[in-house]
Amino acid sequence: MSLSSTHLPSGHSRMWFASDYNFQHLYPQYIQALSQVHWTPLKVAVSAAEFLAMVPGERILDIGSGSGKFCIAAGYHYPETFFYGIEQRDDLVRYANTAKEMIGLPNVSFMHGNMTEVNFSHYDHFYFFNSFYENLPGTYKIDNKLTYSKTIYNQYRGFLFRELEKMPAGTRLATYHCGEEDLPAGYQIVKTAMNHLLNFCVKI
Ligand SMILES: C[S@@+](CC[C@H](N)C(=O)[O-])C[C@H]1O[C@@H](n2cnc3c(N)ncnc32)[C@H](O)[C@@H]1O
Repeated sequence: MSLSSTHLPSGHSRMWFASDYNFQHLYPQYIQALSQVHWTPLKVAVSAAEFLAMVPGERILDIGSGSGKFCIAAGYHYPETFFYGIEQRDDLVRYANTAKEMIGLPNVSFMHGNMTEVNFSHYDHFYFFNSFYENLPGTYKIDNKLTYSKTIYNQYRGFLFRELEKMPAGTRLATYHCGEEDLPAGYQIVKTAMNHLLNFCVKI
C-alpha cells in the first residue's frame, strides 16, 4: 500500500519540525517539561527513521511511544512507511493522538497497552528509547502513577529480547540511550551516531 500525495500533511506543518522547541508546542506544559529527558530529539528521530524506513509500506513499531514524538517526526519525513506506537500510559496516547491529528499523518497510529500484549510479528522493524529504564532505582520517572522495580525492568527486558530474537534476519532495530553490549542475541550494530547514544542494529 502506498500513500498518495493528497494525504500528505500541509506545507505549514513544516514549522513544527523546524526545532525541538517548536515541536514541543504541540503539547501542554506538563508534556513539554518532560521533553529533555524522556522524548527523542528530532535529529535522533529523523536519523533513526532514515535507517528503519528502507522499504515503502513497511511497518515500524516504537516500543514505548510516550507522547508520540518519534512516530510523528518519522511519519512526517517518511510518508510511505507506517509508524506505530505502543504506550502503557493512556494520557500520553491521548496527547500523541492530538498532536498527530494537528499535523495530519495517516501513516501514524498509537495504541494504548503494554508492549507485552503486542504481536511483534506484525511489524518489520523497531525503535527503542530505553523505555523500561524508569523502573530502575534513582532514575527520573514520568509520573508517580506506576509501580517501578528492578524486577519489572528485568521482566520487560526479557520479554522484549525474546520477541526481537524471534524476528527474521534483516530486521532492523534502532536503539537510543541503550548500552552497546545490551542487545538481543543475533543483532549486530552496523552503525552508531550521536556519540554512541544512537545505535543502528540488524538481525543476522
Ligand atoms: C523514554 S520514553 C520514550 C518515548 C518515545 N519513544 C520517544 O522516543 O519520544 C519511554 C516510554 O515507554 C513507555 N513504556 C515503558 N514500559 C512500557 C511497556 N511495558 N509497555 C508500553 N509502554 C511502556 C513509558 O510509559 C514511556 O512513555
